[in-house]
Amino acid sequence: MKKVNIILVGFGRVGKAFFQVVHEKTAFCQERYGLDLRLYSICEIDGALFSPDPLDASHILERFPSLSLMRENPYWKEGLHLRDLLSSIEPGVLVECTPSNIRSGEPGLNHLRQALDGGWHVVTASTGPLVVDFRGLREKAKEHGVKLKFSGATAAALPALDMALYSLAGAEVYRIEGILNGTTNYILTRMKEGMDYKQALEEAQSKGIAEPDPSLDVEGWDTASKILLITNAALDADFTLDDIKVEGITAIPTYLLVQGKEEGKALKLLGRFSKEEKTPLEVSLKVIERSHPLYGVNGADKGITFTTDTMHSVTVTGGKSDPRGAGAALLKDIINIYRKNL
Ligand SMILES: NC(=O)c1ccc[n+]([C@@H]2O[C@H](COP(=O)([O-])OP(=O)(O)OC[C@H]3O[C@@H](n4cnc5c(N)ncnc54)[C@H](OP(=O)(O)O)[C@@H]3O)[C@@H](O)[C@H]2O)c1
Repeated sequence: MKKVNIILVGFGRVGKAFFQVVHEKTAFCQERYGLDLRLYSICEIDGALFSPDPLDASHILERFPSLSLMRENPYWKEGLHLRDLLSSIEPGVLVECTPSNIRSGEPGLNHLRQALDGGWHVVTASTGPLVVDFRGLREKAKEHGVKLKFSGATAAALPALDMALYSLAGAEVYRIEGILNGTTNYILTRMKEGMDYKQALEEAQSKGIAEPDPSLDVEGWDTASKILLITNAALDADFTLDDIKVEGITAIPTYLLVQGKEEGKALKLLGRFSKEEKTPLEVSLKVIERSHPLYGVNGADKGITFTTDTMHSVTVTGGKSDPRGAGAALLKDIINIYRKNL
């Protein structure tokens, strides 16, 4: 049985969901993959939960399920920093679930650099560090002989990245088109059904689909970050956020709304890469026809189409679009780092 030591950074919605999924899947991962997942620490901004033995997940979920309660756990160490944890445990995987800042990359960027330098594999749900320093982090991982995986940051349970990296190996990707943000797709779907923007956004927020501050989503930057990372990974390219023309859904021109409501048409916010275009990357509103492979992707669902030289057009859609889906994507990346038969 391979022991996999894990440090989790950030115990918000995704961090908690990951913790829960790992708890549920511990026995399954032992039996199916021969992996013994050992979560040693949950690290927060002001301290960490750390015990010399793997944490007892059911005890934590039962007695200390929230951040404030976690601080009452006898294993809570106020002021304990990630850098101290990384050097006190045999390296395994750092799971990064702190908020994304796509301009500074912090706090995740610093966490990722420390972990990679310390010989830890990294699995991240946070987009910010990769948007800011994709090439640098990849090189650091290579230098230290460890893996950097980020399904959780690229539409999570939708296997967009795996499709590009594994399923399309050997093919040249000419074009990528993706509905990569659940909030904007939900709002556009409800607007097609007759709601106005404000009503649709409020409904998305009341259902927990949209964040209280939805600006990164509705202004297109979340989609921009994801198409950037997927394109850079698929093409081994070096695009930055400044290379992307970004449009959101906050001020939709009336003619597009009208066209999008016509029979057999739909208005979608697409993240796009096209090798033939002068500006190869953009996030823009497009009216698509029923024949388009992403036409049926509605509500908070996501989907992506890759157009290639040898495999033609390949589309994948679906995947749970919530923190649990993201937690499961993080677990998938951990399994794929260690499984032998891949
Ligand atoms: N929500 C989703 O469905 C989803 C899906 C895929 C990817 N993501 C990405 O996953 C990441 C986490 O999302 P989330 O929804 O779980 O966010 P969240 O609920 O805001 O949780 C973030 C957690 O990180 C903690 N934190 C902040 N700064 C920290 C630091 N310096 N060191 C350690 N911990 C720190 C926060 O603590 P405090 O509360 O004390 O500040 C909070 O517990 C984000 O980058 C997001 O973009 C989210």
